[in-house]
Amino acid sequence: MCGIVGILGTKAVATDLVDALRRLEYRGYDSAGIATVENGHLERRRAEGKLRNLETRLLTEPLTGRTGIGHTRWATHGRPVERNAHPHMSDRVSVVHNGIIENYRDLKAELTARGHTFETDTDTEAVVHLVTDGMQQGLGPIEAVRAALGRLEGAFALGIIFAGHDDLMIAARQGSPLALGHGTGEMYLGSDAIALAPFTDTITYLEEGDWAVLRRTGAEIYDRAGARVERPLVKAVASALLVDKGNHRHFMAKEIHEQPEVISHTLANYLDMAAGTVNFPPLGIDLASVSRVTISACGTAYYAGLVGKYWIERIARIPVEIDTASEFRYREPPLSPGGLSLFVSQSGETADTLATLRYCKANGQRIASIVNVRTSTIARESHAVLPTLAGPEIGVASTKAFTCQLSVLACLAIALGRARGTIDAAQEAELVKALTEIPRLISTVLRNEDEYEKLAHELSKARDVLYLGRGTSYPLALEGALKLKEISYIHAEGYGAGELKHGPIALIDENVPVVVIAPEDELFEKTMSNMQEVAARGGQIILVSDAESSKVGCRLATHIRVPKAHPFATPLLYAVPIQLIAYHTAVFMGTDVDQPRNLAKSVTVE
Ligand code: M6R
Repeated sequence: MCGIVGILGTKAVATDLVDALRRLEYRGYDSAGIATVENGHLERRRAEGKLRNLETRLLTEPLTGRTGIGHTRWATHGRPVERNAHPHMSDRVSVVHNGIIENYRDLKAELTARGHTFETDTDTEAVVHLVTDGMQQGLGPIEAVRAALGRLEGAFALGIIFAGHDDLMIAARQGSPLALGHGTGEMYLGSDAIALAPFTDTITYLEEGDWAVLRRTGAEIYDRAGARVERPLVKAVASALLVDKGNHRHFMAKEIHEQPEVISHTLANYLDMAAGTVNFPPLGIDLASVSRVTISACGTAYYAGLVGKYWIERIARIPVEIDTASEFRYREPPLSPGGLSLFVSQSGETADTLATLRYCKANGQRIASIVNVRTSTIARESHAVLPTLAGPEIGVASTKAFTCQLSVLACLAIALGRARGTIDAAQEAELVKALTEIPRLISTVLRNEDEYEKLAHELSKARDVLYLGRGTSYPLALEGALKLKEISYIHAEGYGAGELKHGPIALIDENVPVVVIAPEDELFEKTMSNMQEVAARGGQIILVSDAESSKVGCRLATHIRVPKAHPFATPLLYAVPIQLIAYHTAVFMGTDVDQPRNLAKSVTVE
C-alpha cells in the first residue's frame, strides 16, 4: 500500500530516489521520506503530504549519500504526520516498509521492556528496534535482519540500510511485492519495476518469503528457510515514457481517452475479428465441462466481475458466484473440486484478492486471473493469466483497466458459450461484431465532452447523487457512484433501478440528482417506469441512454445521448459517460483528481 525504493549508487542518490518515488505515488501519498548513509551515519528527510513537500525540503536540506532508501506512505498505523513518515531509524539502521507487521504490539512491549524507546505510532518501528537489538547483541547487520525476519508476522516488503555500511542494503518480501533492479555497478530496489524504469529494465522479482543482500556488484537471494536461491533476471516491459500525462491535464483524462485504443488492443488478443470468432487461450480446463464459476475482486474490478456474471450466466448458462474478495476470504465458501475461479485485478497485488485466490487454489479450483500487470503476484500465482492490455494506469480512479477487464470477460463469456453449445457460430459472430464496434463508438462519446462540463456545474452543488440501472447497467450504476465519490467526494450510491422503491426512494427530492443508465434494451421500459417514480417525486434526472428523448415520457434535467450499440456490449460503452461525469465534476470542484484523498492505487494491505 506504500511504495518503497532503494539505490546503491555511484553518486548521490537523493534525486533518483525522489524520481523513483514519484512513480510509486499511486501506492500512497500521505507522506514521503528518504534516508541515506552520509559519511558513515544515517540521515533522513521526511515531509507530510505529497512528494513535492519532500522535494522542497531537500532543496534547503540536501542529502549527498550514495546509498539510500525512500518511501511514499499510505497510512495504516498512525496518523499521516511527519513523525510517522518513513524511513524509520535508530542510530544503526533505517527501514522502509510496505505492509503491516501484525505482531508489532507484542514486539513493541518486549523491546520497550529491553530499553528501546519508540517514537512513532507505526508498526514499522518494531522492525527498526528488532534489528537494532540484534546488532546490540553483537550480530552483524545480515544476521540481525535474518533473526528479525523470523520474528515478524504479517505482510511486508522491507528495504533496510545500516550506519557504517555504504555498500549494503537488505530487502525482504512476504506478502508485498518487491523487485530488484540491476544496473552497471549499481543496484536498485522498488515496489514495482515502473519505479526503476529510468535506471534499469533488468529486474529480479523476489518471491514470497525471499530476502536479499544487495551490494553494488549484485544481489544474493535467500528463501524463507535461509537457503541461497537463484531467481531469474527478466527484462521489464515498463517504459519510463509510458508514465507521462501527454497533453492531458490529468492521468485520468489521458486514461479515459486511451480507451478506444487499449480496448481494441485487448479485444484483438482474444478475438479473430475478421473470422468473427473468439480465439481464447487455453485455461488448462475443458471449457465445455465448466459447471460453476467463482469470481472475486475488489472495488471497480469487482464491478467488472459483476458484469461478467450477467454475461456468463446469460450466454453460457453457467451459475456464477461472485463476492468482494474481502468478504469471500473469511466466508470460506465450500467449493466443489474442478471449478473455475476468476480473479480480476488491475494491479495484481490487491491483498484481499490474492488471499482469496490462495483459498480457491487450496480448495482445488482452476485459477485464472484477469490482470493488467503481468508480472504481479496474482498473475504469477494463477494457473492461467488473461491479460488486459491497458498499459500502466496511474490515476487512482480506475478507468481504462475497467473497460479492458470488461473486454476480457465478454470474450470469456462467448468462449464458454461456444464450448458448451449454448450459442452457435452465428450468435458468436454477432457478439464478436458487437464488441468490435465499441472502440469506434467510444471515440464518438469522447468527442462530446462539453456536455459533461456543463453537467459538472450542476452535480457539484449536490450533497447526494443516486445512480440507477438494471441488468448489466446495474454494476455500472455501482461503478458510476464509486467513481463520483472517490474523486469528487460527493456522496453517491448505486442501486438496481427496481430496488429503489424498497427504501432509497425516500431520499429523492428536488436536490437529489439521479443518474439513470438505460440503454434501449429489453429492460429499458422497466427502467423508464422506475425513472417516472423518481420524476414524480421531483428528482433531477440525468439520463444516459441511446433512446430518443421522445420515448422517455418525463422531464429530464439532462439527457446524455450515447450512440446505439448492441445490448450485449453496452457496459463497455456506457462506462465512458459515467467516467466523464465523475471526472468533470471533480475537475470543476478542484479536487486532486489523480490522487484523491485517503486512497491509494494498489491496496496491498487488508
Ligand atoms: O488493482 P485492483 O484492480 O485489484 O484494485 C481494486 C480496487 O482497489 C480498485 O478498483 C479501486 O476500487 C479503484 N480506486 C476504483 O477506481
